[in-house]
Amino acid sequence: MDLLSAATKVRENAYAPYSRFKVGAAIRAASGTVYTGVNVENVAYPEGTCAEAGAIAAMVAAGETKLTEVCVIADSPAPVPPCGGCRQKLVEFGASDTRVTMCTTDGGSLTMTLNELLPGRFDASHMDRT
Ligand code: THU
Repeated sequence: MDLLSAATKVRENAYAPYSRFKVGAAIRAASGTVYTGVNVENVAYPEGTCAEAGAIAAMVAAGETKLTEVCVIADSPAPVPPCGGCRQKLVEFGASDTRVTMCTTDGGSLTMTLNELLPGRFDASHMDRT
């Protein structure tokens, strides 16, 4: 399945009554299966949870822990980059060269690797003294 179509379709289900900014995300896991997510806000924490985090949760719940490709879409003037927390979450399950394509509903797009999105990141090697 094409990630942009999946992200575009799922975005319609985003729950964003506070920001009114609907985001859809689709990730391809190592098996080839595509998992999707949307942002889900709530009155106490209006920023809610991001679409990328939702897609990752769906992947992990299905028993997969490797992702190979990511697509995010929003109705914005320029491609929306994942927030800092989502970058760290994506890095947990992706690789340095995993491509993240950020799209706008009017056809704009920008592709960056996870390494470009989160250089100098904390990883397990920083806890390794042996
Ligand atoms: N949001 C995402 O879902 N993904 C991003 O990459 C950026 C921001 C959501 C969180 C919140 O519901 C709304 O966009 C505004 O911050």
